[in-house]
Amino acid sequence: MPEDRLPIYRMLELYQYELSDIWDQDLDGHGEFGYALDRYFQSSNCKAFVALVAGKYAGFALADRATKVAADGNWMDQFFVLKKYRRVQVGATLARAVFEALPGYWEVGQMPANLPAQAFWRRTIGEFSDNAHTEHAITAGWWQGIVQAFNSPPK
Ligand SMILES: CC(C)(COP(=O)(O)OP(=O)(O)OC[C@H]1O[C@@H](n2cnc3c(N)ncnc32)[C@H](O)[C@@H]1OP(=O)(O)O)[C@@H](O)C(=O)NCCC(=O)NCCS
Repeated sequence: MPEDRLPIYRMLELYQYELSDIWDQDLDGHGEFGYALDRYFQSSNCKAFVALVAGKYAGFALADRATKVAADGNWMDQFFVLKKYRRVQVGATLARAVFEALPGYWEVGQMPANLPAQAFWRRTIGEFSDNAHTEHAITAGWWQGIVQAFNSPPK
């Protein structure tokens, strides 16, 4: 929804700061990390989702088509749950809702050093796909990391 754009942008700033130990970025002249979010509100290939708990923003997901293993499919571009709402299944619930909203082939990637995210996605995707997913390590090119690939709904 258009009204979610600014809250997502501000949650992206929190997300980028939290990951700044492993995702090296500097603030711009406005004191922001910044993120090219407009395409999520302009292109049919880019979808933005928010998680709400009792009407309050609890996280977001951004999905596009920039798969890293296969030539085409859904790719989880960014995914975040505010600290207050962690470990109560907000992330798992949001992930399932996004997978179901965008049926087809899926890839989800994590930076090599983001071990908590790897644990979260292995558990969440393992449950969603009934362990029918495959896992890939990408070690060359501009994007490197761990990727889980699976289908929604599971085949
Ligand atoms: C990763 C993240 C999205 C998890 O969100 P969450 O709402 O806390 O996750 P859930 O409560 O749905 O967790 C589901 C299961 O995933 C696993 N899991 C979640 N967070 C974990 C962690 N920090 N360490 C290990 N396992 C974890 C657990 O098995 C958990 O079940 P349990 O709580 O019953 O043990 C959240 O910690 C986050 O936003 N982190 C910072 C941003 C980030 O790394 N995003 C992912 C980029 S790929």
